[in-house]
Amino acid sequence: MENEGFETMAIHGGEGEDPYRALTPPLYMTSTFTFPDIEEVGRVLSGERTGYVYSRASNPTVANLEKVVAHLEGGESGAAFASGMGAIAAILLHFAKSRRPLVFSRHIYTGTRHFISEMLEPLGIPARFVDLRVDGEGLSGLRSRLEEGAGGVFCESPSNPSLDIVDLAAVSALCREYGVPLAVDNTFPSPALQNPLRLGATIVVHSATKYLGGHGDLLGGVAAGSREVIGKIAAVESPLLGATLSPMNAWLILRGVKTLSLRMEAHTRRAGALASLFASSPHVREVRYPGLSSHPGYETARRQMSGAGGMLSVVFEGKEEAGRFMNALRIVRIGVSLGDPASLVEHPARMSHRGYSREERERMGVPEGLVRFSVGLESLPDLQIDVEEALRAL
Ligand SMILES: Cc1ncc(COP(=O)(O)O)c(C=O)c1O
Repeated sequence: MENEGFETMAIHGGEGEDPYRALTPPLYMTSTFTFPDIEEVGRVLSGERTGYVYSRASNPTVANLEKVVAHLEGGESGAAFASGMGAIAAILLHFAKSRRPLVFSRHIYTGTRHFISEMLEPLGIPARFVDLRVDGEGLSGLRSRLEEGAGGVFCESPSNPSLDIVDLAAVSALCREYGVPLAVDNTFPSPALQNPLRLGATIVVHSATKYLGGHGDLLGGVAAGSREVIGKIAAVESPLLGATLSPMNAWLILRGVKTLSLRMEAHTRRAGALASLFASSPHVREVRYPGLSSHPGYETARRQMSGAGGMLSVVFEGKEEAGRFMNALRIVRIGVSLGDPASLVEHPARMSHRGYSREERERMGVPEGLVRFSVGLESLPDLQIDVEEALRAL
């Protein structure tokens, strides 16, 4: 299906072989697979015949999801996990086998940061942070780290929750020059709006909990890339870490993916309108949305994304104003996830990033008054009224 349009691939790309030609692929809710005789076991284990053995290693429903996400991202293979963190852990442990330092963009999801400080560093795997923002220090920091030797580079664009933009083609080109693999967390834009592999990245990773699943009812993660690199991760890190995606969740994510493109268009339309509304408010110090021409990454985002997406961050005067705004919302809920039909706000200083000092948060691009807004799919006029009334409470 490689040459079909995005929506066609999203709808039909996850279909497997089914003897009954079911329109919706069946859910193989099983831990293990049986064999008619011992000779058949040998044929499956040697790869002579395609088959399944045990669902921690592979499962047909999960394989359908891996195939469709790989297609949508322009990769050859995919590997699914129980969560986005499961996928990120597998990739970083795979990179760590090089026994060289790993390089991270300073502006990444807090869970990834915690994995570095609580897992990688205690295991003796050094991490180096560089500023990869288009309006940051340029790529000289990355070049020096690559020059010293690195086992892998990891970044995110737009970043969570600072909404910073990384020039993915430029970073990919530099990593390729040094032969270092680059993994990009593409959770915020989803494959409908940005495809890092097509820009030169080695691996793309998603929290499928967010836009891929799209309904706020499950956890999941997917990585995609070349057959070679994903094949290694799928053969070793994935089954041995045991962060295995349930076939049930794979089936639900496959269902979510079918409407991904429509949903991303609708999220983007609403987020763009709310970003303009926030930008016109005297109570707002800064609006971070890559679709606004005032965003320092606007031009790069236009080049590498087909839409600015459903995530934005709003910076209020301080913690207290951020809290008052959130408490005054009626339709928009307070919660840490994102990418759901329901709009959600979170206040990093008191929620996701509360374990860091104020100075550390500032260094990560997260001021005290920043509120992250996952713009959902509710009626736009209702969202606009909700936001206007909450701003009036300030
Ligand atoms: C950008 C990003 N990457 C990874 C993750 C981790 O995903 P999960 O919660 O599915 O483990 C998240 C979760 O919020 C995220 O926002």
